[in-house]
Amino acid sequence: MSSSRGQFSSKTGFILAASGSAVGLGNIWGFPTNAAENGGGAFVLIYFVLAFFLAYPALMAELIIGRHTKSNMVSALQQISTGKKAKRIGKYTGLYGVIIATLILSFYSIIAGWMLAFLLEPLLTITGFPEISAWLTAFGNTRNIIFSAVFMLLTTAVVSAGVEEGIEKWSCRLMPSMLLLMACLIAYVMFQEGAIAGLKVYLLPDFRQIGDPQLIASAMGQAFFSLSLGVGTMLIYGSYLRPDENLPTMGAIVTLVDSSIAFLAGLLVLPALFVAQENGVTIYNAAGNLIAGPDLIFQTLPALFHDMGTIGIPVGLVFFSLMTIAALTSSISMLEVPVSYTIENHGASRSLATWLIGVIIFSSSTLIALNFDALFTVVVTLTTEYSQPLLGLMLCIFATWVWHRDMILTEIRSGHPQVEQSLFWKIWPGYVRYCCPALIILMFIQNVVG
Ligand code: PFF
Repeated sequence: MSSSRGQFSSKTGFILAASGSAVGLGNIWGFPTNAAENGGGAFVLIYFVLAFFLAYPALMAELIIGRHTKSNMVSALQQISTGKKAKRIGKYTGLYGVIIATLILSFYSIIAGWMLAFLLEPLLTITGFPEISAWLTAFGNTRNIIFSAVFMLLTTAVVSAGVEEGIEKWSCRLMPSMLLLMACLIAYVMFQEGAIAGLKVYLLPDFRQIGDPQLIASAMGQAFFSLSLGVGTMLIYGSYLRPDENLPTMGAIVTLVDSSIAFLAGLLVLPALFVAQENGVTIYNAAGNLIAGPDLIFQTLPALFHDMGTIGIPVGLVFFSLMTIAALTSSISMLEVPVSYTIENHGASRSLATWLIGVIIFSSSTLIALNFDALFTVVVTLTTEYSQPLLGLMLCIFATWVWHRDMILTEIRSGHPQVEQSLFWKIWPGYVRYCCPALIILMFIQNVVG
């Protein structure tokens, strides 16, 4: 075991890094498109309920386990278990988390690579390289592989610099820049013709859809993915947190930042869609539904930027920079999961572990990119729809059925001396022991059957 572990140097450093992990393509792309597909405001409402009543308690389980054990998910789950059998299950659950984090990054880096390519496109158009521009925006193996490699290089460079000098420093630079870019874009889009129609679709709930199992399943998947739950990302970030920090408050701030940015992203993407319609871009597909998924980001919005004329160039640039930054702060947290495991359990140095795993993930991205139709959706579904909720369930079980309640209390107390009198402590232990597992299982079954 390596002796010197990293640590976040400040509260703000942790909040920005953990929010950076949470806020990613899932917020800016996934949330608005999910809302567009699932009854607008009805989805937003259910999402917020699930984020605070299901995802936040599960996030707390990860943060508490992480900070107490000061180690990665594999060792952490073994440490909090007492019997031999429980330790073995803990080890395999941890390894499953490491593998899923690795697989998520394998597909995530392909999408993030597309963002990078679309970011460069306007620059090459104005500097007089239309052929390269066209290549950048056309789907193709070479482009996909080159840009996922560039994105992985960026991610690996940050993580190899360590917790304080890499993850914390870059999160503190990138998160405020991202917020600024987003605020500028929202302000611009809101004043365009058609924006109000988009706002209505986004914010007015279609109450007939509110109990729709499909909507609830989508909102739960979105909440788990958005808060980076189950795979040990939040657990490892929690392990770098100082003992005197107040865990329930930290977790609540991260949940609030994550949900607020998802909400803000909806204020950008849906109005932009209707502004595009005003500009003559088709925004409904053949089935009469709003265009969502990749077509929204890589066809409808670029068509809008193109139709805007000269102003469309900086607007497009800002939009894809925003996407790239959001993706980068999330990808560094995913890479930290296998990297910390390799450092702590196999004695590797940080730089060796990071570059080695960077290469492994890039190879797996290449495999997915070369067999896109066969593998991409399968990997996304397997990791985010099935594995993340299942791992979240396991973490809730480990925190409240396997671990001792007194130890949890002692851990939280170190940064929050009056926790025993707080509402958090009156509700959380029982809630994570009974309600969270029941809710996750119910929704999981619904998802599989549906
Ligand atoms: N939370 C990220 C997003 O919303 O895009 C995705 C993510 C990050 C998932 C880290 C899993 C993870 F471990």
